[in-house]
Amino acid sequence: MIKENGNPIIFENGDKKIAVEFLVGGFVRVYEKKAKTDLIEISYRKSNAKIEVKEGAIAYGSFELSFDDEASLIVKKSGKDYLVVKHTHEEGNNVSFSFNSESHIYGLGDKMAQLDKKGYAYRQWNTDCTARHDELEPALYKSLNFILLEKESTYCGLFFPSTYPYDVDLGLKEENKATITSKDAPIDYFLFLEDTPKEIVSAYSSLVGHPYMVRLKMLGNNQSRWGYESEALVREVVSKYRENQIPLDYLHFDIFYMDGYRDFTSDKTRFPNLKNLTSWMKDKNVEAVCINDAGIKLDPEFDVYNYCKDNGLISTQNGKELVATVWPGDSIFPKYYHPKAQTFFGDKAYAFMKENGFSGLWNDMNEPVSFKGELPEDVDFSIPGRKVSHLEEHNVYGEHMIRCFSKIFERDNIRPYLFSRACFATTPKYAFVWNGDNYSLWHHLRSSIPQVLTLSLCGAMFNGDDIGGFGGHGNRELLIRWVEANILFPFFRNHSTLNTKAQEPYAYDEETKEIYTHYLNIRYELLPYLYNCVEEMSSKGIPMVRPLFYNYPLDEKSKCVNDQYMVGDDIMVAPIVDQGATVRSVYFPKGNWYDYETGEKYKGGRYYAIPMPLGKTGIYVRGNTIIPCFKKGLQYIEKEEIDTLVLRLYGNKGKCRLYEDDGKTLDYKKGKFNVYAFSFDKKGVTYKYIEKEYESPFRTLKIKKGGKEASINFKENKAVALEDLK
Ligand code: NOJ
Repeated sequence: MIKENGNPIIFENGDKKIAVEFLVGGFVRVYEKKAKTDLIEISYRKSNAKIEVKEGAIAYGSFELSFDDEASLIVKKSGKDYLVVKHTHEEGNNVSFSFNSESHIYGLGDKMAQLDKKGYAYRQWNTDCTARHDELEPALYKSLNFILLEKESTYCGLFFPSTYPYDVDLGLKEENKATITSKDAPIDYFLFLEDTPKEIVSAYSSLVGHPYMVRLKMLGNNQSRWGYESEALVREVVSKYRENQIPLDYLHFDIFYMDGYRDFTSDKTRFPNLKNLTSWMKDKNVEAVCINDAGIKLDPEFDVYNYCKDNGLISTQNGKELVATVWPGDSIFPKYYHPKAQTFFGDKAYAFMKENGFSGLWNDMNEPVSFKGELPEDVDFSIPGRKVSHLEEHNVYGEHMIRCFSKIFERDNIRPYLFSRACFATTPKYAFVWNGDNYSLWHHLRSSIPQVLTLSLCGAMFNGDDIGGFGGHGNRELLIRWVEANILFPFFRNHSTLNTKAQEPYAYDEETKEIYTHYLNIRYELLPYLYNCVEEMSSKGIPMVRPLFYNYPLDEKSKCVNDQYMVGDDIMVAPIVDQGATVRSVYFPKGNWYDYETGEKYKGGRYYAIPMPLGKTGIYVRGNTIIPCFKKGLQYIEKEEIDTLVLRLYGNKGKCRLYEDDGKTLDYKKGKFNVYAFSFDKKGVTYKYIEKEYESPFRTLKIKKGGKEASINFKENKAVALEDLK
């Protein structure tokens, strides 16, 4: 029986009861009892629209909602059952639904599997999985409880907001049946019923918070290695980059810079003067990023430990400090959620970074991990006024840690460079992520694409993996193919572990260095296009990189492509990810496509076998578009260098919107940005400002089409005739 005219609508039949709350923005919350969400920040509003129940059904956009006697939610589309969501209580609280064998089921964050997660079971429990990741590992570092279902070209999303663990079976126990179970979280989920994956992902992203706006420079090249163990080595790496004219913007300092692996300290033998070193780097336009670990050394001489002890900030078991083992040996895990911890750790990090010239913070081991094994279930993370058990805190522990630091960058009016290994659905508004410890394996290169695309669909849209592979020895072919494949991923960082073969761009031979540099140069050229994507990501929850079906939701062939990706609306990347392969099949969705490097044209809606010898990757531009670029050869991103805007024209007519701001500060929030509208047809190119509040460094506008070009003074803002291109 439905209680009418309310929001929520409540269905009751004997002891079966379910509520559906209608929210602004195309989604509903379905619950028996609402999960506690005070440990995270989510934002939504109840809809004021009148909910009309007619003959037991509620019209909702292009869908219709009703219930059966068991309090299952029935979703119909065009009069046909689309989804029946059952709510049951065997071995926990279960939400289940069936799909077809042709359906696709995407989501769940960083799980190292294909795009379609069908046929496997997963656990949402942040885990530092030391085995070599693949689809048989149920849990990895992140818990993004978002599922996107495709059934007969209709898409819908489900998000489970509780921070307690969930077990997610996507058709392992019973074919074509998904069951999401939690022993501790009540039945409570958000259901997104929109017409396209784009609308669903944006609505979900607005609920959990859009990813924050990163700096333009952060789209540049990052170099890292656990093994840069001395000042001399850091200087050598930076110098080699500059001598070889390989673009570089950030260098990362792994745990070797610390004194005995204590956070916020430095090893004076290895790095006698960090400030001098980072200033020297800054002169070369390379900024420094330092790692920060979740566990704090248990050391009565260490001020950070003492502060935690004196202020009740240490997590406990049976009333005693929980002693874990991490890099420093015996370590404690602070209750980062405690307001005192938020202030203390924020201030500590700010002072340390200032004193030593670091401009970014890399947060690690924050699942949290102890080398003694899983933390006991009864560890207590309570803070005054709120009991917090380990089970409830675990998946947001990393988020609570990075929340200490998310505001400190504001003190200098700069956007955060803040990233984390552990992540919950609500984390990306504070920090971006990387995928953790992959290996130098071909199958890890291959899975980097579905992994990054899935993270993007699940809201962690600024992400990337360790290029070249973190664990194990790499080789030149693998490194080259990795660079080619990841070249337009949002975050681009080469990182590897101790005692493995060096894998900097210059570490192998001349050819490797040239190919690596060539593709980095292309990435730097495309930064205005990528930065546009950054702005759309952080203002609208639109992923920078997406699976093909996101852009082409009705195209059957686009629904399960694991080795190609879209960057924004207009660029597609199709790399080689198999050893020895020199040709691959590329699927082109409808329309015309052009090879970014050669201009060769392909007709869409079909597959082509395309030769790609080592040193060639497929970067394709959709026809009838304008791609905004920087000039060739940038070595780093600084305002002074950005004097030329290049517009590359494809097809017969097209347009593009270009967003521009200082790329660094928070002034864009006060309206200091420009938005240009460029368009071209057979006569020529015109442009106008839609917003004009920022002093642009552009002096020259270069138009390029099919091997011809023309340059004009940017400020003159006049039309360029295509016949003037020479
Ligand atoms: C684990 C991280 O995943 C890895 O990137 C880092 O190099 C090591 N910890 C050492 O800090």
